[in-house]
Amino acid sequence: MTNGYKTQIGLETPALRALGSGFAWGTATSAYQIEGATLEDGRGDSIWDAFARQDGKVLNGDSGRHACDHYNRWEEDLGLIKSLGVDAYRFSIAWPRVQPLGLGALNQKGLDFYDRLVDGMLARGLQPHATLYHWDLPQHLQEKGGWGVRETAEHFAVYAEAMGHLLGDRLTSLATHNEPWCAATLGHATGKFAPGFKDPQLAAQVSHHLLLSHGLALKAMRAAGVRVPMGIVLNQSSVSAASDSPADIAKARTEYCSFVRWYMDPIFRGEYPQDPGIAHYPVVQSGDMELIQAPLDFLGVNYYTRIWASASKPETPAPKLLGESDMGWEIYPDGLRALLIDINSEYALPPIYITENGMACADVVQDGSVHDQQRIDYVRMHLASVAKAREAGVDVRGYFYWSLMDNFEWEAGYSKRFGLIHVNYENQKRTLKDSAHWYRNTIAKHKEATRSGEHA
Ligand code: FCB
Repeated sequence: MTNGYKTQIGLETPALRALGSGFAWGTATSAYQIEGATLEDGRGDSIWDAFARQDGKVLNGDSGRHACDHYNRWEEDLGLIKSLGVDAYRFSIAWPRVQPLGLGALNQKGLDFYDRLVDGMLARGLQPHATLYHWDLPQHLQEKGGWGVRETAEHFAVYAEAMGHLLGDRLTSLATHNEPWCAATLGHATGKFAPGFKDPQLAAQVSHHLLLSHGLALKAMRAAGVRVPMGIVLNQSSVSAASDSPADIAKARTEYCSFVRWYMDPIFRGEYPQDPGIAHYPVVQSGDMELIQAPLDFLGVNYYTRIWASASKPETPAPKLLGESDMGWEIYPDGLRALLIDINSEYALPPIYITENGMACADVVQDGSVHDQQRIDYVRMHLASVAKAREAGVDVRGYFYWSLMDNFEWEAGYSKRFGLIHVNYENQKRTLKDSAHWYRNTIAKHKEATRSGEHA
């Protein structure tokens, strides 16, 4: 946990050097948010298709039906990624595209798509980092109980093994899950995300089945001889108590337990954290925790903002000294440094990648440009934080900006723009924002600084 506030300076040469010469620069997306083509080539229905069809679940009735049409425009998009000068691209595989029902037959056309995509990255010198599950569960499995039942975890391991076989020899890394906290809590406790349940006990059980599926998938892939570095991507935050009052401090502890430790403790210690503020625990079968605790080759950390813990009613608002994003999320770059240092001292961790970090802005295209200075400031300050964490001894190996391009932002539909590249959804035109040019220059400067100054 962290309390207090520190201002951040810009990304100067010493900070660039602190990132180290092997630091991987990347950008990230996920299948449902960009692919579109949800009805093409035998793809099955997903829980997000079904959720978006329900009235009032997604802003403006938006859905991923067309999204950025990346399924058809992937070559153009890989060209754009390459033009950013990045080393790496993080994408996710849509389970219902490669196995429409989530069990049984695989869909050759879906497999071919990811096969081509990965080859396309390699042909352009981009390192492929794949995620197996970025929330698009096959709807057929949802109808059989979804992540509320153990069988889904077993099906996931079969799917994982098939993907490991198909792509494992060409991937730089393979993550089982993206942000299981969101899938469990937003999907099953608050109902904000698909499948839209409001049942906190179910959400606790779902979190366990997601973790179990992670363990089963690692076991299946490793037993099958898949050699790619394997890990998981967790959303994390530093937590600040609104004051030194015992109530605020207790609330901060509970938030840290339910957000960060709920996933980190099982994976790195083999147990769920105990906290008087946590009311719901899952049913755990014997042997589950051993599976979940399987060694990881890397940990992916997604960081956007901090959690502000206030127990008073009404709550004391966060100070937001650096303002907020278009999502309403406080801009708090020092939280990333503090979080990395905290988790590094609390757990025995493998190398870390910042697998997501980014900002939504109300971007507009003016004369062919998008002037998103706020996003540039956001990224610069967070990179400076990563550099500080590295100086403090945290082994962070790379940074992926979220997102490559504007896309379907879940329940907010297309109303929030996170991209380095602007997407006009009327005609699918892509426009590089100022931040994209800044990112490319920063990457070039980093390469220059680490070439000449590695031993300085
Ligand atoms: C993360 C998600 C990603 C995107 C960003 C803004 O929680 O992993 O899909 O929605 O937030």
